[in-house]
Amino acid sequence: MKTKKTITDNTVDPDILAYTVGDDPVLDRDLVVWDCMGTAAHVTMLARMRLKTPVVTKAEAKAVCTELAHIVDEHRKGKFSIKVEDQDVHMAVERVLTERLGDLGKKIHTGRSRNDQVAVDVRLHIADELIGLGDEFLDLAEALVEFGAEHDRVPLVGRTHLQPAMPSSVGVWATGHAEMVLAQCHNLKAAHDMNDACPLGSAAGYGVPLPLDRRLTAKLLGFSRTIHNVFGASMARGENEACVLSLCAQLMAVLSRLAEDLILFSMPEFGYFKLPREYCTGSSIMPQKFNPDVLELVRSKAAQVLGLSTAALSLLHAMPGGYNRDLQDCKGLYMKGLSITRTTLRILTKVVEGLAVDADRCRAAFTPGVFATDVALRKVAEGTPWRDAYHQVRDHLELLNGEDPDQAVAAKKHEGTTAGLSYNHYYSAIGDGRLDVDTWRKTLYGSLEKLLGQ
Ligand code: ARG
Repeated sequence: MKTKKTITDNTVDPDILAYTVGDDPVLDRDLVVWDCMGTAAHVTMLARMRLKTPVVTKAEAKAVCTELAHIVDEHRKGKFSIKVEDQDVHMAVERVLTERLGDLGKKIHTGRSRNDQVAVDVRLHIADELIGLGDEFLDLAEALVEFGAEHDRVPLVGRTHLQPAMPSSVGVWATGHAEMVLAQCHNLKAAHDMNDACPLGSAAGYGVPLPLDRRLTAKLLGFSRTIHNVFGASMARGENEACVLSLCAQLMAVLSRLAEDLILFSMPEFGYFKLPREYCTGSSIMPQKFNPDVLELVRSKAAQVLGLSTAALSLLHAMPGGYNRDLQDCKGLYMKGLSITRTTLRILTKVVEGLAVDADRCRAAFTPGVFATDVALRKVAEGTPWRDAYHQVRDHLELLNGEDPDQAVAAKKHEGTTAGLSYNHYYSAIGDGRLDVDTWRKTLYGSLEKLLGQ
């Protein structure tokens, strides 16, 4: 009786197989498009290799690409499945190509290993995710800047140690948080740059005795360069995901601080901001409750993403050089980290867009002490040395009077303070960020379109 061979002629114990395959059949669904794209570039390159007997002809490479495009279509319609027997997306795609194209399907893996294959899939997937992440975090920055512009000069007590400190404004508060989000553009660009190198052609991590044109595949896939060293290319897997996770962890820490401010300033005791009712959740026992659960969960998600980032680095630090199966577990970590971060960005944008300001409560919070530094500085303007002025005010705090918060806000005019904010500065930073993300988008989707007509 003829038995049907699986691609790797599997003799592995079913329990061991299930354990080693892990979540790949589910997680790898997110890699189907990118696996097909990587394979399209690889076969296109194989067909251009100068050999006495070509591995595949140009016509055959075209036939493979057409079939890969069908697989992507089927996947988008939910009709492509990865079976446990396949182990992962790579073997599922090869199985289907072989079922449909016969011997031609069996040739596509020539000169390639699943190690460089998955590494390139992950990089393409990350490139796609960073485009979405970039859009989303620029959206949040924009929502904060717009909120700031709308309530620019509304006085807000500036705090240090959470204690009332000095006159500030809603504009400074909102664009300050926008500034924190925008600073992460540096990390986003760094993550993109690190990711923008092609490992394909490194095979199992040691190359192959075939004249692979690694620069061609890198170019076809839209990468700006190859990872030159084959062994380095195999070790770069995981490092790259850890870099993305560290971006996510830092960004989540920024978002968590924003969430914490919103929780505080919207609680009844402060009452500066008001969350829309429909963004708050109630209690099963206390009818009066409108809780900011959504913001509390931002805090907890920040902790989770930090954990994922730590998990990735922990997984890497003890591994010897070359491919090790540990790397497979990095996949779920970075996918989860990106997914949490992206959802959180979208949710926070919505929250900021729905936020209302109670300007009266903001003004009412200005206790006399908030003006203490301004009073001392007025003494300086009259010729008193700063330290003397400071002591004169500190020794007689009971003499401080309430002042006009709006005047105090208008009096600070230097760069970046209450009356010295440049909204153009933020709009141009957001615009620059959008230009970068658009360039990445054109490159990646342009390459996808050329290879698979998608
Ligand atoms: N699913 C595997 C992973 O993500 C693919 C690579 C398998 N390579 C190997 N040498 N076993 O790592």
